[in-house]
Amino acid sequence: MRKDAPTSSAPVVSCFETKPILLTLLSLTLVMLMWNLPPYYQNHFSTTLSAATNASSSNPVAAQKLKTIPNADPNKREFQAYGNAAALFVQMGAYRGGPKTFAVIGLASKPLHVYGRPWYKCEWISNNASASTLRTLAYKMLPDWGYGRVYTVVVVNCTFPVNPNDDNAGGKLIIKAHYGESQRRYEKFTALEEAPGSYNESKFRPPYPYEYLYCGSSLYGNLSAARIREWMAYHAWFFGPKSHFVFHDAGGVSPEVRAALEPWVRAGRATVQDIRAQAEFDGYYYNQFLVVNDCLHRYRYSANWTFYFDVDEYIYLPLGNTLESVLNEFSDYTQFTIEQNPMSSVLCLNDSTQNYTRQWGMEKLLFRDSRTGIRRDRKYAIQAKNAYATGVHMSENVIGKTLHKTETKIRYYHYHNSISVIGEPCREFLPLSAKNNVTWYNKLPYVYDDNMKKLADTIKQFERNTISIPIVA
Ligand SMILES: *[C@@H]1O[C@H](CO)[C@@H](O)[C@H](O)[C@H]1NC(C)=O
Ligand SMILES: *[C@@H]1O[C@H](CO)[C@@H](O)[C@H](O)[C@H]1NC(C)=O
Ligand SMILES: *[C@@H]1O[C@H](CO)[C@@H](O)[C@H](O)[C@H]1NC(C)=O
Ligand SMILES: *[C@@H]1O[C@H](CO)[C@@H](O)[C@H](O)[C@H]1NC(C)=O
Ligand SMILES: *[C@@H]1O[C@H](CO)[C@@H](O)[C@H](O)[C@H]1NC(C)=O
Ligand SMILES: *[C@@H]1O[C@H](CO)[C@@H](O)[C@H](O)[C@H]1NC(C)=O
Ligand SMILES: *[C@@H]1O[C@H](CO)[C@@H](O)[C@H](O)[C@H]1NC(C)=O
Ligand SMILES: *[C@@H]1O[C@H](CO)[C@@H](O)[C@H](O)[C@H]1NC(C)=O
Ligand SMILES: *[C@@H]1O[C@H](CO)[C@@H](O)[C@H](O)[C@H]1NC(C)=O
Repeated sequence: MRKDAPTSSAPVVSCFETKPILLTLLSLTLVMLMWNLPPYYQNHFSTTLSAATNASSSNPVAAQKLKTIPNADPNKREFQAYGNAAALFVQMGAYRGGPKTFAVIGLASKPLHVYGRPWYKCEWISNNASASTLRTLAYKMLPDWGYGRVYTVVVVNCTFPVNPNDDNAGGKLIIKAHYGESQRRYEKFTALEEAPGSYNESKFRPPYPYEYLYCGSSLYGNLSAARIREWMAYHAWFFGPKSHFVFHDAGGVSPEVRAALEPWVRAGRATVQDIRAQAEFDGYYYNQFLVVNDCLHRYRYSANWTFYFDVDEYIYLPLGNTLESVLNEFSDYTQFTIEQNPMSSVLCLNDSTQNYTRQWGMEKLLFRDSRTGIRRDRKYAIQAKNAYATGVHMSENVIGKTLHKTETKIRYYHYHNSISVIGEPCREFLPLSAKNNVTWYNKLPYVYDDNMKKLADTIKQFERNTISIPIVA
């Protein structure tokens, strides 16, 4: 396992601490040399230097850097590390975000951002030899500021004064990532390539391919395939045929979970991205901030609205609202947040007429924590084209307004932790009188709430009509 990040000195220096004295001297000489060389040589030498430290190091990041195995499965994601120690930048994705703008999403050494001032420059090198290179200064956003560990998430925004690929000859977006304030110390890498003729401006105008897109955060641990099946069927029904679901597998998609999702993937309704390689990079909770930002920019012009919530949460419309009417009402807002109905994932009715083994979670988990006025996590949806970076509970890098007062229009049922209960979730049984009464359990008051149960038959019917039903234990 990797040690904790260096905190007070720049990684370039601290990574020599355990190296033999000779190598230290050699490297320091190289560093001194670098400071006195013009940028062109500097870049060349820093590559040499990282190779030299790699030779006597077992640092997985350094090893990762040299790994360039071609990638056959488009949904299997790689994390390209550039630089040494806690890498200067680990790229997850780079996307065009409009005619003049790009976003590069990655991880960067957190100590470097806390104690230094890394910055970024962007270059466009056209395939057209007679076109000149365009350059622009990037601005960076740190959407998980305060949460990151060894690594923090960085969204690099490259906005050029004009479309750099106006002639559609194709070209490359190059990023120069600087270690600190110095102009001279940087790593340079190709973030994105556009093939000749591939630029199509109409992609950035409505109508978008989907009305609604779901960006899931990292899936990890032992997930219940039965619960995933129900979640998927419910939301495919809820969001309708013009919606798409993107899941990120950080180790949570077991063969059983995969089987539950597979019919939806085959039907073109869902995508599962393999992000298991993220485990090498110590960010916040399976790098979920990285994943939501990658998803934001990858699908920025794919849907009117992008939703961020978890697989133990079910979006619900009270009072006979329709999703379309609610979102039309919210359309002046860039984003809105959603309040939760917290449900017990343990309490069920002691009802001998029911066979709970056969029932879906939403049919038997019917007790809602009835405390009001408590600050709870919220989830949100966003018009992605107006967002530059995003978080787990809302985005703070948007243009436009945010709406919080939504609780009478849209809510979500939160079956906290039910997703990681592999067997039967019903573990405590309440007498039938609990239906009409407040029940205190673990010092919390619960009331009966069967709004979701009332939808169960509709969802099951929808599932039968839409896909061939997976075999789920
Ligand atoms: C760096 O480490 C990798 C993996 O341990 C090894 O394959 C490679 O040869 C090393 N590079 C150099 C320049 O020694
Ligand atoms: C980059 O930032 C500019 C505003 O400075 C914004 O207009 C643009 O959409 C952003 N690009 C991306 C890809 O987020
Ligand atoms: C290449 O760039 C030159 C100068 O900008 C331009 O006149 C020419 O049309 C471009 N060629 C192609 C094939 O786009
Ligand atoms: C650009 O995209 C639009 C919509 O996707 C499509 O109808 C059009 O044919 C595309 N244009 C080119 C030149 O590929
Ligand atoms: C999505 O956007 C298009 C174009 O702006 C609009 O016509 C359509 O009504 C929107 N759909 C929803 C569900 O918001
Ligand atoms: C998943 O469950 C298996 C056995 O059911 C257990 O051995 C393993 O430790 C669990 N993994 C996690 C991440 O909880
Ligand atoms: C459920 O109710 C039956 C009587 O209706 C009772 O015998 C049984 O002990 C109850 N079980 C639990 C777990 O409360
Ligand atoms: C309840 O359903 C399960 C699964 O279908 C079945 O194995 C079990 O025998 C049923 N129990 C009763 C009491 O009917
Ligand atoms: C539950 O209901 C019973 C009778 O219906 C009543 O006597 C009792 O006070 C109620 N308990 C609570 C906590 O409201």
